[in-house]
Amino acid sequence: MFSLKEKTIVMTGATGALGGSLAHSFAKVGAKIVILGRNQTLIDALVAELQEHTEATGFVVDVLSRADLEQTREKILAHMGCIDVLINAVGGNLPGATIPDHQSIFDLQESDFDQVIDLNLKGTVLPSMVFGKTMSEQGSGAIVNYSSMAVDRVITRVVGYSAAKAAMENFTRWMAVEMALKFGDGIRVNAIAPGFFIGKQNQALLLNEDGSLTERGQKIINNTPMKRFGNPEELSGAIHFLCSDSASFVTGVVLPVDGGFNAYSGV
Ligand SMILES: NC(=O)c1ccc[n+]([C@@H]2O[C@H](COP(=O)([O-])OP(=O)(O)OC[C@H]3O[C@@H](n4cnc5c(N)ncnc54)[C@H](O)[C@@H]3O)[C@@H](O)[C@H]2O)c1
Repeated sequence: MFSLKEKTIVMTGATGALGGSLAHSFAKVGAKIVILGRNQTLIDALVAELQEHTEATGFVVDVLSRADLEQTREKILAHMGCIDVLINAVGGNLPGATIPDHQSIFDLQESDFDQVIDLNLKGTVLPSMVFGKTMSEQGSGAIVNYSSMAVDRVITRVVGYSAAKAAMENFTRWMAVEMALKFGDGIRVNAIAPGFFIGKQNQALLLNEDGSLTERGQKIINNTPMKRFGNPEELSGAIHFLCSDSASFVTGVVLPVDGGFNAYSGV
C-alpha cells in the first residue's frame, strides 16, 4: 500500500536540506526521481548519489518561470513517460521580509516581501499548474507541498513567509478540490507542515556556533512537547504516505510533522 516503486517523482527544492533527505528516501524505495534545482553542480552531485539506488535525472529550472517549467515537463515526459508525483519543496525567506526585535512592521521592505510571496506561493502554484496538467491528462497523480508552523501560530518576526505559506496552504485545498471535481478521484493535492528542522536558512537563528541553542532556539524547544528539533528523515514517512495508494481518499489536508508544536498551548 505504501509502495512508490517505479513511480516517477518530480521534486523542486530537492538540492535543499529537507528536499535532499526526501530524495534519498525515495531512491531507497525504488522510485524514479527527477531533481529540479537552480545549480547544475548540486543537481549533478545529488543525481549521482541517487543513481546508486535508482533511476534519477535532473534539470536546472527556475520555478518562477512557467516557460522553463513547461520546457522541462516535455523533457521529463520524453525521458520518463509520465509524472506520478510532484513534490513542491521550494521555499524560503529574506531578511527584509522579517522584522527584527529592534524594528516594527513599519520597517517592512516591500520588495523582499514580494519576493518571498512569489517564491513560497507562486513557486508552488506554477509547478502545480505545469505538472498538474500532465496529471489531469493521465487521470492520476499526487502533489505534496511544504507548508509551515507559521501558518496556524504567529511566529514573531516572520511576516512575509507566514503570509505566503498561509496562502499556499489555501491553494493546496483549492487545488485539491479543483482537481477532484474536474479531473476525477485519481489526483490528490496535500501538504505537510514541518515543525522546526535545522536547515541552511534557520541554522544561525536556532543554534550558536558551538551547537548550543540560541535564545530563539530555546523558545522553540520550550514550545515543542518532544523537546527537540526534527530530523529531516522524520518527514519522509508522512510524505511517502501522502504520495502512495494508502492515501487514495486523502486530499486537501495539511499534515503537521512537528513533535507536537501545533497542538501545544505552552501551558
Ligand atoms: N527547515 C525547516 O525547519 C522548515 C520548516 C517548515 C517548512 N520548511 C519548508 O520546507 C521546504 C524546504 O526547506 P529547506 O529547509 O530544505 O530549504 P532550503 O533553503 O535548504 O532549500 C530550498 C531549495 O529551493 C531552491 N530554490 C529557491 N528558489 C528557487 C527557484 N526560484 N527555482 C528553483 N529552485 C529554487 C534552493 O536552491 C534550495 O535548493 C521549504 O518550502 C521551506 O519553506 C522548512
